[in-house]
Amino acid sequence: MRRVELAKKDSQRRIQRSDGSPNPPSSAPPEGIETHGGEEKEGNSHSGFLATGPVHPITNDILNRFGPIRVTHESSEDALVPLMAGAIGLIVRGNTPVSRRVVEAGEQLRVIGRSGVGCDNVDLAAATARGIPVIYTPGAASRAVAEGAMAYLLALAKRLTELDAKTKSGHWRTRDQMQVYDLQGATIGIVGLGRIGQEFASLLKPFEMRVLASDPYVPIKQAERVGAELVDLERLFSESNFVVLVAPLTKETRGIVNRRLIELMKPRSVLINVGRGALIESLDVLFDSLKNGNLGAVGLDVFPDEPPDVSHRLFSQPNFLCTPHILGLSVSATRNIFRMMSEGMAAILDGKVPSNVVNPEVFQKQSVPSV
Ligand SMILES: NC(=O)c1ccc[n+]([C@@H]2O[C@H](COP(=O)([O-])OP(=O)(O)OC[C@H]3O[C@@H](n4cnc5c(N)ncnc54)[C@H](O)[C@@H]3O)[C@@H](O)[C@H]2O)c1
Repeated sequence: MRRVELAKKDSQRRIQRSDGSPNPPSSAPPEGIETHGGEEKEGNSHSGFLATGPVHPITNDILNRFGPIRVTHESSEDALVPLMAGAIGLIVRGNTPVSRRVVEAGEQLRVIGRSGVGCDNVDLAAATARGIPVIYTPGAASRAVAEGAMAYLLALAKRLTELDAKTKSGHWRTRDQMQVYDLQGATIGIVGLGRIGQEFASLLKPFEMRVLASDPYVPIKQAERVGAELVDLERLFSESNFVVLVAPLTKETRGIVNRRLIELMKPRSVLINVGRGALIESLDVLFDSLKNGNLGAVGLDVFPDEPPDVSHRLFSQPNFLCTPHILGLSVSATRNIFRMMSEGMAAILDGKVPSNVVNPEVFQKQSVPSV
């Protein structure tokens, strides 16, 4: 399971009570837990938030009036279940799975905060059944991920990593043997024309590309506004020189990009995935497609399992470029995400109804509890 290290140093610096003194031994958290911020309430030393990875300092600034935030790097169900005791809020970092058992273990749980937009790792049905709102952060990282997709597009079209290695190893003659590709006049297909997909389509405008998009839930007018033509998935794959995946992972989209679809692509097409790793059937399909020239290059920010097994043959391919699911974690996006999530969680604990709730149906079931 992915152990999120972002801002670890910062959180370690902040493993102390808000008055600056170290945690007294009597309230020392269990092994594997870091505590920072907030005043521990007497007689209720475990009341507060559990975070499955470090949080931005702004989260502490916003939430510490409700209780301390305890950071764990544990991600297994068995490890998380006992840590849920007394937690009024759960902050879900990265792809830590939050199962029904974890949700049900939080007897005091009033709110779950997801630092991101993809909620495929949270058992929403379990949270809804218990009337627990799940806060997420739509739009907070859209621009950052769109810029990341653009970086992949340019790097792979111009074959920057391959040519960098060739140039540095003295293969100057590569300039007569390899070709770089053009964006102008080429066709690009975007799978998932939501917030990120639309932001990305807008960034493409100066490049004078033909933009196709596949998204069964977006109205034609919305696609037209960002210069994209809505088509079905088969047509998108068969007509595009570049394909960018930015759909959410759902039952419908899991494995949606399979061998058959990739075989429809033009020779030496470029495939980029910044959505969720499991949108693609397997890493084997990508390796085979690079080897047989069906794909010219692959870029992945996301993987079916994170971290991925880097001994897979794909990782030794020079035309494979990857990053550790980081595109949504730019400086400003990180701050936006944690501010939006924390304000939403605080609103719930204050008995208000914020707009960024994944399962608003919980508000029809019960009045919102305040603390
Ligand atoms: N790489 C990263 O760091 C990073 C950061 C943020 C989000 N993401 C991923 O990107 C995804 C999209 O984010 P967003 O903010 O644009 O979400 P969004 O909800 O605004 O957009 C998702 C779009 O995908 C569409 N969609 C749903 N099913 C589809 C299907 N079968 N085929 C094609 N399109 C389909 C939806 O209609 C929607 O328009 C997230 O769910 C998340 O998994 C990745």
